[in-house]
Amino acid sequence: MKSKPDSWNSELYQSSHSFVWQYGRDLLVLLNAKPGERILDVGCGTGQLTAEIAQFGAEVVGVDSSPEMIQTAQGNFPQVVFEVADAAAMPYSREFDLVISNAALHWVRDQRGAIASIARALKPGGRLVLEMGGRGNLRHLLEAVYQALRALGIANPEQLSPWSFPSIGEYAPLLESQGLEVDFAVLFDRATILEGGERGLKLWLEMFGRFAVEAIAPEQRKEFFSLADKFAAPALFHNGVWTIDYKRLRLVAVKL
Ligand code: BEZ
Repeated sequence: MKSKPDSWNSELYQSSHSFVWQYGRDLLVLLNAKPGERILDVGCGTGQLTAEIAQFGAEVVGVDSSPEMIQTAQGNFPQVVFEVADAAAMPYSREFDLVISNAALHWVRDQRGAIASIARALKPGGRLVLEMGGRGNLRHLLEAVYQALRALGIANPEQLSPWSFPSIGEYAPLLESQGLEVDFAVLFDRATILEGGERGLKLWLEMFGRFAVEAIAPEQRKEFFSLADKFAAPALFHNGVWTIDYKRLRLVAVKL
């Protein structure tokens, strides 16, 4: 997806943030893939979920805007097809039975373009199963990050966030406007334990919160991490473990 950072540390992603695709497994039940179906995984990262879908006997293509992610995915799973593509400009037309997207679309700036591109990729009658950060996602975590940025002299830090966390009321009409009929929509809390013990928040920010880390001069970053820890801890750090406040928007829709 175009608005994810251009370069990702794909090794760190798969070694320290495996919860991303482990939670994505919940979507496979909704996907209900059948042998021989063609499936597109939008924002596939390092390919773990894509490869699990391939095990159903389906023909899967994983796409991601990050060449690093795709290179790692291809090295992990040489038998699966992976391609670098911008979610809002994918080159597919009426060729997939199913599209799945897990924890990726909140990175995309052109939300309408991404949904239009997904709708175009589906055959009529094809299904979209998607999960992304929804309204209220990371509320406590972001408050703490913005507070730390302000303390270090960054004005209006909210404006730096690259993410869209829509509500059901915002997203269902967007899907409908692109010819997708929404069958199921839910917004729910998913408290998520971070790997790395007391270093967990720093590791998460280094991977996903680069908009904030890079706003700070290198010599002040140690202080930034320590302030973020301090401000976030009352809500999110208990008994030596960081548990962050993910909120998921999950939708299933059919192309008319
Ligand atoms: C999410 O899955 O909700 C998410 C992951 C990384 C950054 C922002 C949101």
